[in-house]
Amino acid sequence: MITGAIALYEEALREQAPALVLRTADGRALPLQMSRFCGPPDTADEELLRHCRGPVLDVGCGPGRLTVALAELGIPALGVDISRTAVAQVHQAGAPALHRSVFDRLPGHGRWATVLLADGNIGIGGLPARLLERCAQLLAPDGRILIEAEPGNVDEQLTAWLEHPDGRRGPVFPWARMGTAALLRAAADAGLHVIGQWRHEDRAFVCAAIQRRPLPEGGGLPATHEPRPFGTKHQSPPEEADACAAAGEVPSRPPGACWPPGLTA
Ligand SMILES: C[S@@+](CC[C@H](N)C(=O)[O-])C[C@H]1O[C@@H](n2cnc3c(N)ncnc32)[C@H](O)[C@@H]1O
Repeated sequence: MITGAIALYEEALREQAPALVLRTADGRALPLQMSRFCGPPDTADEELLRHCRGPVLDVGCGPGRLTVALAELGIPALGVDISRTAVAQVHQAGAPALHRSVFDRLPGHGRWATVLLADGNIGIGGLPARLLERCAQLLAPDGRILIEAEPGNVDEQLTAWLEHPDGRRGPVFPWARMGTAALLRAAADAGLHVIGQWRHEDRAFVCAAIQRRPLPEGGGLPATHEPRPFGTKHQSPPEEADACAAAGEVPSRPPGACWPPGLTA
């Protein structure tokens, strides 16, 4: 998705979930799960969150239900999204996020323990191989990428646009969709090792790492980690700089200060 393509998406975020579709050039209408993006984490999300080790980079975080939930669990996390509205909503919810593309310079390069590609975000940019390569660069040597797959046997790169029920449509942008089988192939092609995969009702997930090491029992949380129940507000959600500090030696910024120049990458 490119910046100019998201005006309808941003409108939908502000209005909390009208039924936008992703219209493909060959005429299919793929529903965008706006109510899921704008709602609290569901049980599949909760299982995904249990596989996250901090610090977590939530790529294409949208309004941030996963970034916010991680912050509430006390796991350092940073959202990144090209939508200004989405990033503002993450901030309003008390979690850190950057208004930037995953392909731009990002903090904590090579130090993130988990990179999240949830909700079909493997489609970002339309070239999954390039996106996986980019995410692998962002990871710490023992990090992992958690990727949500499309249900079914899907493997396509497409041109598409967003369409509102009233007929308005946004500009065309490249996107991709991958089911689990295609994702496993793409991960292998990118030199990643699949260390876990699971399904939750109609959603499927793959965990891929730079190093070959199986997922520990119970996902990725350290044995000492006792998550609060989902929806319980964390007393002090981590600041943007805290998430980055956990991803490297980036110093915490003072409250209210601008993002320090030179630390944005
Ligand atoms: C399918 S939605 C996923 C929403 C999100 N995971 C959530 O929980 O609400 C795709 C998201 O990716 C973002 N996006 C698209 N291209 C991007 C890019 N190059 N870098 C970062 N985010 C991007 C969009 O703005 C949108 O929020």
